Amino acid sequence: MKHLQELFYLLGSVGFIVGLKMMGKPDSARKGNLVAAAGMAFAVLGVLFFNWSEADESFHITGNLGLILGGIAVGTVVGWLMAKKVKMTSMPEMVSLFNGMGGLCAALISIIEWRSLTGGAETVTLEAGHYIAIIAGLIIGTVSFTGSIVAWGKLSGKLGDFRFGGQQYINMVVLAGLLGAAYMNFSAAQDGNGMYFYITIAIAIVYGLLFVFPIGGADMPVVISLLNSFTGVAAACGGFLYHNNVMLMGGILVGSAGTILTVVMCKAMNRSLTNVLLGNFGGSSATGGSSNAAGGSVREVQATDVAIMMKYATKVIVVPGYGLAVAQAQHVVHELEQILEEGGVEVKYAIHPVAGRMPGHMNVLLAESNVSYDKLVEMEHINPEFNTTDVVLVVGANDVVNPAAKTDPGSPIYGMPILDVENAKQVVVLKRSMKSGYAGIENELFYNPKCGMLFGDAKDSLQKLVNEVKIL
Ligand code: TAP
Repeated sequence: MKHLQELFYLLGSVGFIVGLKMMGKPDSARKGNLVAAAGMAFAVLGVLFFNWSEADESFHITGNLGLILGGIAVGTVVGWLMAKKVKMTSMPEMVSLFNGMGGLCAALISIIEWRSLTGGAETVTLEAGHYIAIIAGLIIGTVSFTGSIVAWGKLSGKLGDFRFGGQQYINMVVLAGLLGAAYMNFSAAQDGNGMYFYITIAIAIVYGLLFVFPIGGADMPVVISLLNSFTGVAAACGGFLYHNNVMLMGGILVGSAGTILTVVMCKAMNRSLTNVLLGNFGGSSATGGSSNAAGGSVREVQATDVAIMMKYATKVIVVPGYGLAVAQAQHVVHELEQILEEGGVEVKYAIHPVAGRMPGHMNVLLAESNVSYDKLVEMEHINPEFNTTDVVLVVGANDVVNPAAKTDPGSPIYGMPILDVENAKQVVVLKRSMKSGYAGIENELFYNPKCGMLFGDAKDSLQKLVNEVKIL
């Protein structure tokens, strides 16, 4: 009976692990989310109601239950409403905000622990391991909080990039000052001087701001993932402090998943993390392309011609990109796919790992319109299929189909794996203009004689294609 809390913690941890595993595949991801949420429910119930007291041999509730349940209710309502209302294109902003709240919680735990450890005492004896858990949770949680708020501000367009010469050196000095203050606090606090604790908090706030400010707005998803891993580590410190296994396990899972995701995203973009953190690429205004390709000219096509091409094709591959999300054209692309399939055309979607602006962006978008998961084919599996494809329809994608990644060693995306769409018989690109994508560079594909450009908003163009295919 008295081990019921451990059982709840175990169920919680199993829920986290199984849920995370299920999130790895699009068809089980939704259920995975629910399983992980159920794991969290077990963890919360265990903490609240199954604290065994040896003194009176019964469970007891620590703290003010009314206040705790009130907090849970407010958090649930706010979180639910935000998640319901958020647009798919604003998802990274929301993740960033929620992550910041996690960081703040971890920092507050450290502050509360510190105050209960030192509160009122003239002198205090600190044990090194305990102190490291408190101070690491405080620093990492605070940096994650302020950094996430800046990331949220940048993604929502409320804050711009803020760079100045030698910024990285100043950041290094601030970081050294932060670690120095934390070190000084260890001995000063034992002599009854708590000032350095608050200096540590102040420097951590400043460091979080400085850390994220110079990074280009469009690089924010990578930074959010990194900050997410920070929050996980900060929460794990809380787990150490409270000897709470489920908190420790949850923190470690978030920390390691965030780190892996950061590395995977950098790899898929062929960028080093340092390059991202130094803000060398992908600023929020990276859209200034022009139509001046060396020697080539662009062939504009009309919806009627494209509709005929697709209607009489055997196989069509759709390449979705960021523009599909901007245009919110996921439902109409699914409609086009269904009409073509009814006419006997095989249709698949080619999914590039960093298409869009967040991990799994295209999968989530297409799942929203109920595109069957088995139609979504990952880059390494679809690439060999392009040379047996009649028409490739590129919908609002740019960098992920840019051949410069293979042919131009001077290009910022050189080395990034791309979708080999130019191997197909015909390529049609749906976008509004000749402007560049996230990397801010021209795309030679658009000047390839096989390629036709259907200019316009992706949703409007797809609707025209649907109408045309229907009457053929
Ligand atoms: P991009 O290269 O960013 O190109 C998107 C294209 O969509 C633009 O050229 C734009 O051209 C077009 N577009 C925008 N709105 C449109 C609309 N309403 N209708 C039609 N077209 C529209 O996108 P991508 O190919 O998906 O590549 C993603 C890029 O983001 C990569 O460079 C990747 O490294 C980077 N990135 C990805 C992630 C993750 S995790 N996915 C994170 C950070 C960065 P027009 O303006 O001419 O219409």
